[in-house]
Amino acid sequence: MLLFSDPSLGIDSLGMRRAYQLAERGRGLTAPNPFVGCVVIRDDQIVGEGFHERAGEAHAEVRALADAGHSARGSHVFVTLEPCSHHGRTPPCADALIAAGVARVSIGMPDPNPIAGGGAARLRDAGIDVEFASDPAPYQDQLREWTTWVRRGRPWVRVKVALSLDGKPGTVAGVRSSITGAGGLETTMRLRSASDAVLVGASTALIDDPRLTVRPEGGSQRQPLRVVLSRSSCPKDLKLFSDGSGRVLCLSASGNGDEWTVPTGVEVEHYSSAEGLRGALHVLGERGITSVLVEAGPSLFSAFWRENLIDELILYHAGGVAGMTAPLLMQQVGSAGDLDRRMKAVEAGVSGEDAITVWRPRVAEKY
Ligand SMILES: NC(=O)c1ccc[n+]([C@@H]2O[C@H](COP(=O)([O-])OP(=O)(O)OC[C@H]3O[C@@H](n4cnc5c(N)ncnc54)[C@H](OP(=O)(O)O)[C@@H]3O)[C@@H](O)[C@H]2O)c1
Repeated sequence: MLLFSDPSLGIDSLGMRRAYQLAERGRGLTAPNPFVGCVVIRDDQIVGEGFHERAGEAHAEVRALADAGHSARGSHVFVTLEPCSHHGRTPPCADALIAAGVARVSIGMPDPNPIAGGGAARLRDAGIDVEFASDPAPYQDQLREWTTWVRRGRPWVRVKVALSLDGKPGTVAGVRSSITGAGGLETTMRLRSASDAVLVGASTALIDDPRLTVRPEGGSQRQPLRVVLSRSSCPKDLKLFSDGSGRVLCLSASGNGDEWTVPTGVEVEHYSSAEGLRGALHVLGERGITSVLVEAGPSLFSAFWRENLIDELILYHAGGVAGMTAPLLMQQVGSAGDLDRRMKAVEAGVSGEDAITVWRPRVAEKY
């Protein structure tokens, strides 16, 4: 997800550009499915459009074909991800395209999912002209979170940290300090609404007592799963337990001998303490969470850094200083590898009075 630019503007094909834009409307809504967009063009006119809106509901191709009706026969279909070829909760999209009599299908990227892939071959076998985009990068980038989940069984980890001008995550250790301006809040709402889950450490949950919800200005009524992470036990009285704003999960390491008592409606899951944060992420992956926004304090940022689990780092740079007694962001360096690891900036922008920079690991993920 890019915060300050629109990658669809670099797509030459009008059909593919529109399909990309339609897919974006499903971002954050479709887990564990990918969000996909589809356009049907006949005689140079768009006759059908669709995007996947929710897991279990019709896929983008089926919606676009329904929108096109009889005009789908002999048409050129543009779709961001290879049409599926398997019976999941809905029938295969490849079969729907064949049954509709389309003539040609342009596809953004192949489906990396071994169960659902193979749709292109099925279309070709049925005599349909099929082509893949010569540059799959925009579609691969669009579905980066989902492909991470498919390939690694864990969600894409987006860590967000706010820093003062002198690079500190707060003014006094263990105390809530709001260092960003209103623009930062607006971006936080966008990030939360694009994520399947929002996670905080138990310590921040206790000190800040955040609600972690998407407020209406975030543009979505869907609330991400809210996760409180602990190696020991979950704080007992938190606002998010009782605000009625969506699901809450307390995720703690197993073997700590402490059974949590949590209010009714709050879920509890355990991960293996031997597996650390990676184990916690796999528990989320098993629940179909494809992307998680970690609103990290210094300990959690440091732990994710040490375990090399940050796929994307969003830094908010606020306009005040915190001083020499303020806590450091990096709490503990575990090994020389922690210092060797580098990230590269991929985006920068201004949001209200704050600056925001986006970082990804220097060594890119292989597709
Ligand atoms: N500047 C910002 O963007 C920002 C964001 C969030 C919070 N904050 C501030 O940060 C302060 C809290 O920071 P913090 O460092 O105490 O808390 P933190 O980094 O937010 O979270 C630490 C908590 O995460 C849990 N955890 C689970 N696995 C862990 C692991 N492998 N390593 C470390 N922790 C793990 C721990 O729970 P257990 O102790 O139960 O194991 C611990 O309480 C507050 O003052 C808050 O206002 C700032």
